Amino acid sequence: MTAPVAPATPAVAASVFGDRLGLAERYAGILATRGVEWGLIGPREVGRLWDRHLLNSVAVASAIPAGVRVVDVGSGAGLPGIPLALARPDLSVTLLEPLLRRATFLTEAVDELGLGDRVRVVRGRAMGPDARDAMAHHDSYDAVTSRAVAPLPRLLDWCAPLLASSGVIVALKGASAADEVTDARAELKRYRLRASAESVSPYPGADPTWLVVCTR
Ligand SMILES: C[S@@+](CC[C@H](N)C(=O)[O-])C[C@H]1O[C@@H](n2cnc3c(N)ncnc32)[C@H](O)[C@@H]1O
Repeated sequence: MTAPVAPATPAVAASVFGDRLGLAERYAGILATRGVEWGLIGPREVGRLWDRHLLNSVAVASAIPAGVRVVDVGSGAGLPGIPLALARPDLSVTLLEPLLRRATFLTEAVDELGLGDRVRVVRGRAMGPDARDAMAHHDSYDAVTSRAVAPLPRLLDWCAPLLASSGVIVALKGASAADEVTDARAELKRYRLRASAESVSPYPGADPTWLVVCTR
């Protein structure tokens, strides 16, 4: 196997990942090599892995309380769940992903990064409360994260049943965040959630990104 070649690390990564910087670099290397070979990351993403993927993922951290159980729904290659776990060693993180190849990638990455004590991979899908699908995952979490998985109304149908009675859903969205909140009025009411669209910078000086934050 070729040794992972990490793309150049931006200086700011040290303040975001602290003493987990080496692990973040190793993860960037895994994405840049196996992630591309397995078709989980487009080859053109390699040059912008830090900005668009690792550091962008950490934007969700600002909305997640200390020490809680998090599920990252539709984690794909581990985004935002793995960078979140690296930036926030106080969290336990479940990476939920239905596709076998992606779940296998995640299991290997978690093993190689030595995160197995607080990051687990579950092969399954988030679904509405009435789901009978054998792959459906029903468990209880204090926080649900997701990026690039579904428009907010469908995402709430999938994520709200995973939330403990009080908890937070944090979705990384683009500039459509406020419109998605408007479109999800019925689902927000059904699940008794309040939502806000928030523009946040993952680190000082970064281009802002949009979060939808839903709480009970
Ligand atoms: C476009 S990818 C995004 C992956 C990753 N979150 C990212 O930002 O790079 C969407 C992912 O959601 C997963 N997915 C789709 N429906 C899902 C569901 N109901 N529950 C959990 N994951 C789901 C897909 O298998 C896929 O890996």
